[in-house]
Amino acid sequence: MEYLTSPQEMQYWANEQRRVGRTVAFVPTMGYFHQGHLKLMEYGRSRADRLVVSLFVNPLQFGPGEDFARYPRDEKRDQALAQMAGVDVLFLPAPEDLYPVHFQTYVTVEKVTQGLCGASRPGHFRGVATVVAKLFNLVKPHWAIFGLKDYQQYVVIRQMVRDLNLDLEVVGRPTIRENDGLAMSSRNVYLSPQERGSALSLSAALKTAQERCRAGEHRAAILLDEVVRRISGQPDTRLDYARIVDPETLEGVEFIKDPAVLILAAWVGKTRLIDNGFLGGYPDCPA
Ligand code: PAJ
Repeated sequence: MEYLTSPQEMQYWANEQRRVGRTVAFVPTMGYFHQGHLKLMEYGRSRADRLVVSLFVNPLQFGPGEDFARYPRDEKRDQALAQMAGVDVLFLPAPEDLYPVHFQTYVTVEKVTQGLCGASRPGHFRGVATVVAKLFNLVKPHWAIFGLKDYQQYVVIRQMVRDLNLDLEVVGRPTIRENDGLAMSSRNVYLSPQERGSALSLSAALKTAQERCRAGEHRAAILLDEVVRRISGQPDTRLDYARIVDPETLEGVEFIKDPAVLILAAWVGKTRLIDNGFLGGYPDCPA
């Protein structure tokens, strides 16, 4: 595995791959790898001749008072895991190289960033879209692999790629969960044992809604009511939002006749967790 830190070296490497006709898959990450990240790498590995993973805790996507400073980091462990996953290049740029002093250009995706996490985290998706656009220009992948766990992020990136005619395909892959259902996240390490118990209500509520929908309950308000009750009934939880939305536009749906996504975010103690799942017979993975 090669380690690259400079944007110029990364771009040179990418140009070289294209020149000799190799395909490149890319998995952007903020590190502290878990099985969710590793599955994306495994998929990327199987899809292309070369696999690039970036590890960059992007300051631009954290708001003031969010967890940028304490975001979990373990570069040594991540390096070992990436090596085992068959990564060809681990790209570890420095913040001052991606955002030099006079940096002043940002990517703003409009409608799909306005609700849900975009409403609670102003500027978050501008930070995500900007760094991902930069990374795409450095890595020049044929495929960029994203987890559907961050469903709104996936929709935002897909929209950006379409709108800006970026020459790559965005691939969404299913959410990887712990055995008890909790969606894997680097932020799960923040949870105390009691909070870890409360956090299970997110995936449990989601699963119940999926089952009820499958059994014929297609009224969004009824399904959401139970989700709200399940999550809010746990100690230390505060629901941020729970919505049933159109998978493309992220606009609210009242009656589920076409595929829809139940998407939610909740605070468990001081940790903000997100989860989502398809309703209405949609395949597990749309990509
Ligand atoms: P990060 O949270 O490290 O996630 C990197 C990738 O792993 C994202 O595509 C995310 O959706 C995926 N992922 C995380 N948990 C997952 C799970 N349980 N199952 C499947 N996939 C999962 O998302 C980011 O970093 C950043 O916003 C980034 C895109 C790198 C831009 O900075």
